[in-house]
Amino acid sequence: MSLKRVLLIVGGGISAYKAPELVRALDKRGIGCRVILTQAGSQFVTPLTLASLTKDDVHQELFNLTHEAKMGHIELSRSADLVLVAPATADLIGKVAHGLANDLASTALLATDKPVLMAPAMNVRMWEHPAVQRNLATLRADGVHFIGPDEGAMACGEFGLGRMAEPEAIAAAIEVFWHKACSDKPLQGKRAIVTAGPTLEALDPIRFLSNRSSGKQGYAIAHALAEAGAEVTLVSGPTALNDVPGVSMVRVESAREMLEACQSALPVDIFVAVAAVADWRPETKAEVKLKLKGDAKAPAMTLVENPDILATIAQSGPKRPKLVIGFAAETHEVLAYATAKRTKKGCDWVVANDVSGDVMGGESNQILLVTAEGHQSWPEAPKAQIAIRLAEEISAYFKT
Ligand code: C5P
Repeated sequence: MSLKRVLLIVGGGISAYKAPELVRALDKRGIGCRVILTQAGSQFVTPLTLASLTKDDVHQELFNLTHEAKMGHIELSRSADLVLVAPATADLIGKVAHGLANDLASTALLATDKPVLMAPAMNVRMWEHPAVQRNLATLRADGVHFIGPDEGAMACGEFGLGRMAEPEAIAAAIEVFWHKACSDKPLQGKRAIVTAGPTLEALDPIRFLSNRSSGKQGYAIAHALAEAGAEVTLVSGPTALNDVPGVSMVRVESAREMLEACQSALPVDIFVAVAAVADWRPETKAEVKLKLKGDAKAPAMTLVENPDILATIAQSGPKRPKLVIGFAAETHEVLAYATAKRTKKGCDWVVANDVSGDVMGGESNQILLVTAEGHQSWPEAPKAQIAIRLAEEISAYFKT
C-alpha cells in the first residue's frame, strides 16, 4: 500500500501516450495512482495499459453503475492526496476555470478538496491564445498548481511552448510539493477563530435585517489559515458558500449567536473578525408575522445595539487571543478610521478596506493593514490572495 496516492486525470492530447510512463515514475517513488481517462484521452492510450500498470480499475464514465457502486465519483475525487491532470488540455483547463462539469474528469476536478497539479500540453498557438491564458490566470488565482509546459518540437510539427513536462519531472515535482507542504505549516499547533458573512436579525418569523456581506473574504482567510497548519473554527452568518474543507464550521444567524459561538471556541491564539455584524437588532422578535393594522400605519420598530463581538473578544482578559484582528469597511478616510478603530476596539491589527466600490460580494479587495507599528498598503488582489498574504503576516508575527 502506497503512503501517498495521486488521482491521475488523463486528458485527450497526444502527450497522453506518456501517461503509462508517468504512472511508473510515480510508482518508483512509492506514489500510488488511480486513473480517470477522458473519452478523448482513450484515443491516445488504452484503459487496459493503465489498468495493468496501476493494478486498478480505470474510471471513464460519470454514470457507471459498477464503479459508482464501488466508489462514487465524489469519493473518487477525494480518495487521493493530490489530483494530477496530465496532459491538461485547453478544453479541461477551460472547463474547470468556468466551473463546468459534464464528464467524470471535470466533475472530479470541481468536487475535489485536494491540491490540483496540472501539466498542460497543447499546440503553441493554443497555449498563447488569450482565452487559454485567461483561464490559466483564473485557475492560478483559485490555487491550482502548474508544471510546464516545456518548449520543444511538437507532434503537430510546430516548435514552441506546449510540450507536456516530462513524467520524471512531474513525479519529482509532486514529491517536492508534499515535502514543502509538510515543512510549510508555520501555524501548526495554533488555534484560530474567524468570523465571516453577515448576521441576520429577525423582526418576525419571516423578516429580518441584514447586509450584503457574501462571506468570501472570511472563508478565504479561514482556508488560508488552515492551509498554514492552524486549527480553525469558522463562525459564519448565513452565506451561500460551501463549508471550507479542513475547518470546523459553526453556522449561526444573529450577532448574539455569533458571539456565543466564538466564546465557546475560546481559547485560541488568533481571532480574525471578518463578519459584517449588524450593529442593531429589533428589540423584540414578533412571534407571528407582523401585519398592517386597520389604520394602515407602518408598525414602529425599536432597534437596540448588538454586542460588539470583536471588542468583547479583544477585551476578554486572560482568555484574550494573542493576536486579535478586526476589519474596517469604510467609504472614506479609511486610514484615519481604521487607526482609531484599532485602539477603540482593543485589537492588534485592523485590515481596512474601501467599500465604496463593489468589494462586498465582489471577487477582489484592496486593503490597508494597520498595526501598532504603522500601516502597509497592499495592491488590489483576488480575495484568496489577500487571505494568503494575511496568513503569511500572521505566521511571521508568531515566528518572532
Ligand atoms: O465598528 P465596525 O462595525 O466598523 O467594526 C468592524 C469590525 O468589528 C469588524 O472586524 C467586525 O467583524 C467587528 N464587529 C463585531 N461585532 C459587531 C460589530 C463589528 O465583531 N457588533
